[in-house]
Amino acid sequence: MDGRHVIVASNRGPVSFERDDAGRVVARRGAGGLVTALTGALSATGGRWIAAAMSEEDRRLAGTGPVEVEGPAGSGSYRVRFLALEPRAYEAYYQGISNRVLWFLNHYLWDTARLPSFDAGTAGAWLAYRQVNESFAATLAEEPGGAGGGWGGTHAYLVQDYHLALAPAALRRLRPDARIAHFWHTPFAGPDYLAILPRELREELLAGTLGADVVGFQAPGWARQFLAACRLLPGASVDARRRRVRFGGREVSVGVYPVGVDTAGLDALAASEEAAAAGRALEAWLGDRRLVLRADRTELSKNVLRGFLAFEALLANRPDLRGRVAMLAMLNPSRLDLPEYRAYLDDCLAAAARVDERFGEGPDDPVRVVIADDYPATLAAHARYDVLLVNPTFDGMNLVAKEGPWLNRRDGALVLSENAGAFSELGRHAVRVSPFDVEGTAAAMAAALDMPVAERRRRLRGLRRAVLASPPERWVRRQLGDLDAANAAR
Ligand code: G6P
Repeated sequence: MDGRHVIVASNRGPVSFERDDAGRVVARRGAGGLVTALTGALSATGGRWIAAAMSEEDRRLAGTGPVEVEGPAGSGSYRVRFLALEPRAYEAYYQGISNRVLWFLNHYLWDTARLPSFDAGTAGAWLAYRQVNESFAATLAEEPGGAGGGWGGTHAYLVQDYHLALAPAALRRLRPDARIAHFWHTPFAGPDYLAILPRELREELLAGTLGADVVGFQAPGWARQFLAACRLLPGASVDARRRRVRFGGREVSVGVYPVGVDTAGLDALAASEEAAAAGRALEAWLGDRRLVLRADRTELSKNVLRGFLAFEALLANRPDLRGRVAMLAMLNPSRLDLPEYRAYLDDCLAAAARVDERFGEGPDDPVRVVIADDYPATLAAHARYDVLLVNPTFDGMNLVAKEGPWLNRRDGALVLSENAGAFSELGRHAVRVSPFDVEGTAAAMAAALDMPVAERRRRLRGLRRAVLASPPERWVRRQLGDLDAANAAR
């Protein structure tokens, strides 16, 4: 990492602090490839992670300065600085704009006959969104050793996701020479859909992101959509072939950096006693039935509902599979304070109950839904599946499609949506589905279950090779390399 300080900014940090029953401060750590990759880079460079305070304890720590945190095994320690934001402004920025506008926009989630309908409330929430982005930018600009602070612009700022789309331009106004990368973990809406946003908002969104030197995406399709969308911005000129946008007298480079999974970390967690116990409980429920698994957040774009409809169609079309295959949905609760999410989860549970009613024989129902944040049990289920269903309507990457095959021990097949970013790396080893095609998804599950074991094994090997080809460090290293190249060229 050539000694450059890496400074990460994201809404949700890699760690959040709470008090346990005995009043002790305990850390709740985020898992996954992104946290591993970024904390590895931070430990190596003595950098920091700036994130919004999520808990009371985080808010208290925000007042006492950066907190030293132990990274994942072997990665050393790094520092987190929490930002205590005014609660009402935070709510408007997080729920009002990030979750209800930008998430819906970039995952094509609106039923456009009715929604969205931008009103005075949206305008107010947008002001809060801008204000929170400016607070992040101001904190980033204050980092000791930043441009103008004695180190001559040696920081590399890695700004994450749709929550902070305006932060790059805001930081650029404060520190014109800063090296800034912005990464979208989500898909990016194409120009027609982006045009749903009122003109001022979409222009501010694009211009905000283009304050970075490098704008990164998980998959080539999202980078193409972003480049196409930039044509909506007056004054921007797009070179789609070279993936460059000229705007405001600067050149911005657009890149594709697929995030990977921490395979060693996964192996360690999967070997835990908790995972082993969950594996035994799963075996007891399954008996000798084969397993179709899905593991997702309770998230609209994950397409859980059509997954149950497809499983119902599978059992309807294939009487020979009844009683011989079961479906397990591990659903990690997420954003259930939004009414759309609660209503959707209710619909999913009703669909699952209908499958059980229609095809349940004896004590063991064909569908089991577990709504819990139970990572060890999810890892155990990955080892045991025969078919992993990953059918999001739209998804920036989808790490389940990488974690599952890495951990699977049964030559399980992957049924994968063509609209998941992971499809560009894994698609040729998976059974492809169009996520809106319920009958097609049922047929894909049937094909996966019927596939000869030699072919399943060959595909699983291919999936594992693809997972190994994208280690998390590479994601950071390539962005930092492109940031250097962009700055050398200016
Ligand atoms: C996606 C986003 C992340 C976000 C996560 C969980 O993966 O790209 O930025 O943190 O979902 O959502 P939440 O709203 O709970 O942070």
